[in-house]
Amino acid sequence: MDKIRWGIIGTGKIARTFAEAINGTDDAELYAVASRTAGKAEKFAAENGALKAYGSYRELAEDNCVDVVYIATPMASHYDDALLCIENGRNVLCEKSLSLNTEMTKEIIDRAKEKNVFLMEAMWMKCRPVYLKVLEWINTGKIGRPNFIKADFSNYIPYDKNDRLFRADCGGGALLDLGVYPLTFAHAIFGYPDEIISEAEISSDGVDINNTILLKYSDGRFVSADNGFRLQLSNNAMVSGTEGFITLGNWFHCTSEALLYDNNAQVTEKFICEPEINGYEYEIREVHECLRKGLKESALVPHEETIEIMKIMDECRKQWGLKFPQEN
Ligand SMILES: NC(=O)c1ccc[n+]([C@@H]2O[C@H](COP(=O)([O-])OP(=O)(O)OC[C@H]3O[C@@H](n4cnc5c(N)ncnc54)[C@H](OP(=O)(O)O)[C@@H]3O)[C@@H](O)[C@H]2O)c1
Repeated sequence: MDKIRWGIIGTGKIARTFAEAINGTDDAELYAVASRTAGKAEKFAAENGALKAYGSYRELAEDNCVDVVYIATPMASHYDDALLCIENGRNVLCEKSLSLNTEMTKEIIDRAKEKNVFLMEAMWMKCRPVYLKVLEWINTGKIGRPNFIKADFSNYIPYDKNDRLFRADCGGGALLDLGVYPLTFAHAIFGYPDEIISEAEISSDGVDINNTILLKYSDGRFVSADNGFRLQLSNNAMVSGTEGFITLGNWFHCTSEALLYDNNAQVTEKFICEPEINGYEYEIREVHECLRKGLKESALVPHEETIEIMKIMDECRKQWGLKFPQEN
């Protein structure tokens, strides 16, 4: 592989951001894009410099020149889109959340293993230097034993019944769209919890528009996470330990800042992450490294972690009594 040829499925907001990161990466080529509508694919290709424009996802999945497919469709489509690519022998980077539930997630992962293709959930946070710096501080004992995590991800989003975020048939709701990040962050540090307690405000469209999650561990550690579309929160994360704490500010903006504090609340180290392109270049590099090494799974975003986070989200929805139409 000289340049790695990317195909993109879906022509929405994140597909455009991702195309910009591909175009800014030396050893990446935006080879093809696919839409359910030929005209949209052609427009996207013209605006973002893709060589091929397909009017169906299948055509892209069947193109043997595609080295890896980036799936940028709504949550409820990931299962079909990922399986379509995998069945055709394509490597896949699929947007979060990987599917609607644990069963579907396991099926996608199992099928990727059977077909011997690379598969990774596009958990860009886990590839970013600021996140890796926070883990390094924790793993080298800078805050002693971490005991508590507080993380929020809630943006005020005006209601739009056509927006995938508010549509149950698209797998909408704050949990799978935003909550997946605080949970992934907490899980990376504390692992799978012993107890999960969650409440949510469910819209008349049948999606969660605000939720709060408490993860408890039998040794006394706990995590508090708040996510939603109805409230604008500060979108910060904090990990507190026996010898200090870490704050991660603006953690979902391209530029974010991690601060290390001692137990007197004095800053002892600071790490500012300025993206080289738009922040998505790090996950592109991770995929490239895996593909060049012939790996089928990323060590930064392992399959088992994707499954465990999905299990936590299943439990939250079970407690709220919320199912997606595809699950009925
Ligand atoms: N990593 C991140 O920072 C980040 C940020 C935002 C979103 N995401 C994830 O990326 C995915 C897409 O999010 P987005 O904000 O880009 O969504 P979006 O703007 O609504 O775009 C989704 C695209 O998917 C395709 N699609 C397929 N089936 C669809 C359906 N039933 N309804 C609507 N669109 C459908 C459409 O493309 P065609 O019409 O061309 O087929 C559409 O343009 C989600 O999984 C989301 O969680 C990740």
